Amino acid sequence: MLAIDAQDVEKTFRSGWPRRRETAALRGVSLTVERGAIVGVLGPNGAGKTTLLSILATLLTPDRGRVTVLGHDVVREASALRRRLNMVSGRPSFLWSLRVGEIVAFYGRLYGLSGRTLRQRVDSLIELCELVPYRRVPYSDLSTGLKQRVALAKALVNEPELLFLDEPTLGLDPDVAVRVRAHVARLRREQGITIVLTTHYMREADELCDEIAFIKAGRILARGTSGELKRQIRLGEVIALKLDPPRVPWLAESAGVLRCAEVDGWVECTVDEAEKRLPELLRTLHAEGVVIRNLQVREPELEEVFVELAK
Ligand SMILES: Nc1ncnc2c1ncn2[C@@H]1O[C@H](COP(=O)(O)OP(=O)(O)O)[C@@H](O)[C@H]1O
Ligand SMILES: [Mg+2]
Repeated sequence: MLAIDAQDVEKTFRSGWPRRRETAALRGVSLTVERGAIVGVLGPNGAGKTTLLSILATLLTPDRGRVTVLGHDVVREASALRRRLNMVSGRPSFLWSLRVGEIVAFYGRLYGLSGRTLRQRVDSLIELCELVPYRRVPYSDLSTGLKQRVALAKALVNEPELLFLDEPTLGLDPDVAVRVRAHVARLRREQGITIVLTTHYMREADELCDEIAFIKAGRILARGTSGELKRQIRLGEVIALKLDPPRVPWLAESAGVLRCAEVDGWVECTVDEAEKRLPELLRTLHAEGVVIRNLQVREPELEEVFVELAK
């Protein structure tokens, strides 16, 4: 079942006076997300990630296109939908003097919670987001990573079925980012929440997301699992060899070999398909009396796919 079905979404921002400026932020974006999935929207700055997320989360209206989220139209049925989803924006900020527990409770009241229900909800979220030791700490005293976790707790206060995370690890130290990612993975695993996140870190998308949509200049250029994207772009795979003798000039001319390079004593042959080319390559090397001391087959990094797409 689909949590999100967006078709041909367009959004242009008009600003400036007296000279009007127009920015086409989304130029016909279609995206579907299955229930229970984690989907990453990956793209460079200005690609339209935040705009897309804001439309899906009913915070902006599209100029054109049709968007159905959890079975509701995002424009006509926005208020019914808002109770069932939530969003964490890239740079969360709350009243600096409020304490962690107070912040979560404040947002709980906005969703109509009170009394025991509210207390229990706040308790369980503080626990879930590992904020128990910080419950009475003012927001302004928290580290960036903890602030991000408060934002997550706040966004879970209405028990959303669908959660939007806009660059959840932007500006975090790598070790903190790892923990935030672990939290996100757990939310899906333990609570079955559908998650759409934006990021410009390939590794984040690669590790966390079932599927990735590449967005650039308001268009989705490719979509699939990280493995599918790598194949789709046809970057090939790398067969790295340690050989004796270390150099074999004819290797670059062999069938299916796209290019060969020497890196730190390894011969790196990029081939169209490692599975298909490897047996033949090994046979030929053997027949020529070349000794293979070591061998690795590597997929291209998602980063390489990204660079290729962003051209
Ligand atoms: N409120 C706005 N007014 C005018 N232009 C905007 C506004 N929001 C975003 N844009 C422009 O739309 C484009 C997409 O922005 P955004 O969705 O924020 O990209 P991303 O999140 O991928 O960095 C950018 O060119 C940005 O400058
Ligand atoms: Mg953004």
